Amino acid sequence: MLELANISVRFGGLKALDDVSLRVNAGEIVGLVGPNGAGKTTLFNVISGSIRPREGTLALDGADLRSKPDYARARRTLGRTFQIPQPMKGLTVAENMRVAQRFGAGAVDTEAVAEILSLVGLDALADRDAATGLSLAEMKALEIAKALATRPRLLLLDEVLAGLEAHGKRRFTQLLAAIRARYALTILIIEHDIETISTLCPRVAVLDFGRLIADGSPDAVFRDAVVVASYTGVDVRA
Ligand SMILES: Nc1ncnc2c1ncn2[C@@H]1O[C@H](COP(=O)(O)OP(=O)(O)O)[C@@H](O)[C@H]1O
Ligand SMILES: [Mg+2]
Repeated sequence: MLELANISVRFGGLKALDDVSLRVNAGEIVGLVGPNGAGKTTLFNVISGSIRPREGTLALDGADLRSKPDYARARRTLGRTFQIPQPMKGLTVAENMRVAQRFGAGAVDTEAVAEILSLVGLDALADRDAATGLSLAEMKALEIAKALATRPRLLLLDEVLAGLEAHGKRRFTQLLAAIRARYALTILIIEHDIETISTLCPRVAVLDFGRLIADGSPDAVFRDAVVVASYTGVDVRA
């Protein structure tokens, strides 16, 4: 459903993405890992259209994505979360959901909002002020709920688990599995926690200095000497 070919992005002299090709099939959940600064968020920005690649092609369900405005794409197929949770200030949880829904699906569907809030465990907090009344875990759940409210077929999750303790991570892993079971979704998830990624993703892609250095099962990828070296700085190939 998603096809990136030979994508390169430069910021001044820095190659944030260097000839990245990636193909994701409908229904897949793919983990995207790599050290800080590897280009993971940039790749999401390219997919969601906020950054135009200088080279390469990208297609979603066969449609060329390069020339379409951000919002048109989001309406059609894409939901994403941001690395820093961004609740809309001065709005309640439910109002945040309605804004997201109008942005994505075009119309407000109160029943769908209730269903999603219940799925992510925020139904009792619908009237809370989103920016000031939620814990970190609840803000992250709202980020996912907002992304779901746009009725995406492709969901991009950028470090939604970062900052949570082990228990919170396990709960979120279960939540993501439940979301996949409920909606027909393709998911790309950026995540540092290897245990979480291995539990959730049958396939993992690794970026390092903007290059895609591995793509395979978590077992194979996390055994790969090059991947281990990029994560730890220790070259185990010697
Ligand atoms: N808008 C930008 N302008 C300039 N440099 C950027 C910008 N966005 C990201 N970068 C740089 O590109 C590289 C990749 O960043 P990013 O995609 O955020 O990495 P990751 O998400 O893997 O940590 C980093 O060196 C970062 O500093
Ligand atoms: Mg990032």
